[in-house]
Amino acid sequence: MRGLKNKIVVITGGLGDLGYAAAQRMIEEECKVVLLDVAADEENRAEKIGAVYFRVDISKEEEVSTIAQQIKQQMGAAHVLVNTAARFIFKSVDATTEDWDNILAVNIRGTSLITKHIVEQMKENGGGSIINFSSVSGFVGQSNFATYNATKFAIRGLTKCWAQDLAPFNIRVNTICPGYIYTRAFVNSCEKLGLDLEEENKRASAMHLLNRQGRPEEVASAVAFLASDDSSFITGSDLLVDGGYLAK
Ligand SMILES: NC(=O)c1ccc[n+]([C@@H]2O[C@H](COP(=O)([O-])OP(=O)(O)OC[C@H]3O[C@@H](n4cnc5c(N)ncnc54)[C@H](O)[C@@H]3O)[C@@H](O)[C@H]2O)c1
Repeated sequence: MRGLKNKIVVITGGLGDLGYAAAQRMIEEECKVVLLDVAADEENRAEKIGAVYFRVDISKEEEVSTIAQQIKQQMGAAHVLVNTAARFIFKSVDATTEDWDNILAVNIRGTSLITKHIVEQMKENGGGSIINFSSVSGFVGQSNFATYNATKFAIRGLTKCWAQDLAPFNIRVNTICPGYIYTRAFVNSCEKLGLDLEEENKRASAMHLLNRQGRPEEVASAVAFLASDDSSFITGSDLLVDGGYLAK
């Protein structure tokens, strides 16, 4: 991809499956990558791929502001922000005040807070690219998914508003909307619910025209594209990486 070499890339939820796959791809593209995550990097996963890791809870502005300053001091002003961090709370009308506070604090407030602080660095660089993570769940209703889907619809709204506000600063903002990606989260949730992994994989695969779940590296390719100069006239858009899930 064009224009990625030496770019400073910040990835929230960087220890998660999709964030980490994006980090690996951006390192291959010769970027300098910072992983942000609320989870501890116990296995030194950042170091293994040559990335830098900071522990931060993106829902807390004091922490976010401090980390943004540290990134600038240690690495330089950021060019790319990939917002993958999210909480997964699946409730319907039974959602409690606590459920709403927890999911909105990370998926919406947290995404906004880190963007607010990193955008200042992009302005210093004369431009940048922000990539927000929604989902097919940001387009359609799914049973008992109301809390999660509401945040994934909202992410697409944030993208479109920010694209307007930040265009004068040469900062592009886009959304990636994955279908079902075969990740640890999928395997863990099958185990937790006592479901047969192979059966569930078949069921999830059948929801996609390509009759399979996606792979994290296929989402990472879309991240690299939207971060690069190859997408220089794309802003405010939703990029479906969904194997045809929404085409049905
Ligand atoms: N995996 C899929 O099939 C799929 C499909 C569609 C969309 N998505 C979206 O892709 C994104 C990444 O999903 P994933 O499968 O990699 O999930 P994941 O759970 O593997 O990764 C999410 C990461 O975010 C981190 N995080 C949570 N709260 C945080 C906070 N307050 N501050 C900082 N970090 C925090 C977690 O510790 C975790 O490492 C999410 O936005 C999700 O909605 C995933």
